Amino acid sequence: MNVTILFGSPRPAGNTAFLTDAFQKACQALGAGTERIDLYARDIRPCLGCMACQDCPDGLGCVQRDGFAPVFRSMLDCDVLVLATPIYAWYCTAPMKALMDRAIYAGNKNYGRVKGPALLAGKRVASIATCGYPPEKGADLWEAGLKRWCRHGKMEYLGMLCRRDLGRGAPFGDEEKARAAREFARTVCRGCTPDGDELERR
Ligand SMILES: Cc1cc2nc3c(=O)[nH]c(=O)nc-3n(C[C@H](O)[C@H](O)[C@H](O)COP(=O)(O)O)c2cc1C
Repeated sequence: MNVTILFGSPRPAGNTAFLTDAFQKACQALGAGTERIDLYARDIRPCLGCMACQDCPDGLGCVQRDGFAPVFRSMLDCDVLVLATPIYAWYCTAPMKALMDRAIYAGNKNYGRVKGPALLAGKRVASIATCGYPPEKGADLWEAGLKRWCRHGKMEYLGMLCRRDLGRGAPFGDEEKARAAREFARTVCRGCTPDGDELERR
């Protein structure tokens, strides 16, 4: 089983990284292969809305020559997709949003002259998020949007791990959060391997 983590925080040692590191290590310990893609290190430009992708029923069909194609390839190839992001202005960060815009258009051939497939159909999707407000007020709109994105793309939403950053002077990383990340890895990996029972026993 392969888990692709789209990492959308600009801070490589920040709060989202703390949860993501613990989650990724736990996935590996459960036997999953993991790939982590740092979206801030890639050149993923905003969608131009040109609709050229809609005339390419079985592939990406995007006119932009930037870092999106290899990331989309990883999204297609994995079993589980994890979108890890701090909450900025009640949603994900800008590189994550650019990726989601491009993936939902290039990935869904619904909008052109000829109707085509949903390339990410059946993909399992989860999120790791951190925010300054309590999660129900900080990450609720992000989770609602992500659920809708999944539904539109015929993907299966698995859930979100979200923890609050209490701000200056309050260290984020602690054992409760590390434990929650490990537990989330079990939830995400469960049912995605040939032998789910074996996972349960570990
Ligand atoms: C530009 C900016 C916008 C933010 N907007 C929100 C927000 O709308 N809601 C919220 O709960 N927290 C918000 N926060 C707080 C971050 O989500 C929080 O500190 C997060 O843990 C940072 O993650 P990081 O360490 O991975 O960068 C914002 C932070 C920044 C820098």
